[in-house]
Amino acid sequence: MKPNFWPLLPRPHLSLAPMEDVTDTVFREVVLAVSDPACLHVVFTEFTSTDGLCHPEGRAKVAQRLRVNDGERALLRRAGVKLVAQIWGANPEKYRRAVQWIREEHDFDGIDVNMGCPVRDVIKTGSCAALIGDPARAREIVLAAREAADCPVSVKTRTGISRHATEAWIGALLDVAPAAIILHGRTQKAQARLPADWDEIARAARLRDARGAPTVMVGNGDVASMADARARAAAAGVEGVMVGRGILADPWFFNPAPREVPRAERLALLWRHCELYTGTWGEARRFQVLRKFFKIYCNGFPGAAELRARLMQAEDAPQVRAILDAEGL
Ligand SMILES: Cc1cc2nc3c(=O)[nH]c(=O)nc-3n(C[C@H](O)[C@H](O)[C@H](O)COP(=O)(O)O)c2cc1C
Repeated sequence: MKPNFWPLLPRPHLSLAPMEDVTDTVFREVVLAVSDPACLHVVFTEFTSTDGLCHPEGRAKVAQRLRVNDGERALLRRAGVKLVAQIWGANPEKYRRAVQWIREEHDFDGIDVNMGCPVRDVIKTGSCAALIGDPARAREIVLAAREAADCPVSVKTRTGISRHATEAWIGALLDVAPAAIILHGRTQKAQARLPADWDEIARAARLRDARGAPTVMVGNGDVASMADARARAAAAGVEGVMVGRGILADPWFFNPAPREVPRAERLALLWRHCELYTGTWGEARRFQVLRKFFKIYCNGFPGAAELRARLMQAEDAPQVRAILDAEGL
């Protein structure tokens, strides 16, 4: 059995959020390479379907989401950063089987159950944020995953379905004491429209304290900088903070202070991402998915918009290289 790392992390600790088509092994490696180990403690995979993992033919494709390159593994070890596999589904038995398979085939420090994704197709299956409306099943899922896991099981969720129901919902989860609860301060219906409500996150932390529960609380939503992360953690009384879109605004987010990153360094990181992505995925993932990353590196210097427009036309890595070469990079 691996140790429950959550209560052992420094406070406040910082996590990179699971983001589909963003936080694959490649992007995690890129982020780890430019982060200060004192400022990043946990990273998550993209959400991965337990139905898919239990399907003999579907598994190979779905399991790509759990891929961990040697380069990422080396950086995780060096920095002491924990890696958590995020899974989703509605059937406790499938969690048991999927987690068993993950345990045999992979080496993760934790398993996280997605009880927050608001997308309609996913909700329809009774998974993710739909579990907020079915606490008995949610608890069964945590217990099933924990039974099969050799590592701590956490839950990432929201504050309610159409209205905040933080006390009732987090109270129901605390009954089965997940190792951590990562609480995104929005309801399912709010998706990403309204600002995240950190008062609700503070409410959840108070409930945990009042219960004397061992669950570590992590707040999530709209964290804009390291200083903002520290301030929000202190105000809400949580042990950790998770950052999602902040990394898309600044790949160097996980450093003690914001810094002006020079053009050459930005574009070198863009190329590193591009090379790693095509080397890792080949035909398995479309090159077009990579284009959305160009803007996160290619900004903040004169001529960035024009260069970005040219990069967005590139169809493959050699075309990106040719554009960068023409810039003398
Ligand atoms: C592109 C994208 C993909 C996401 N994919 C996932 C996912 O796979 N699993 C998950 O739990 N949350 C997912 N989320 C939600 C984030 O993990 C996070 O909860 C949300 O973005 C709020 O945090 P932020 O305000 O720091 O971005 C995704 C968000 C974005 C923007």
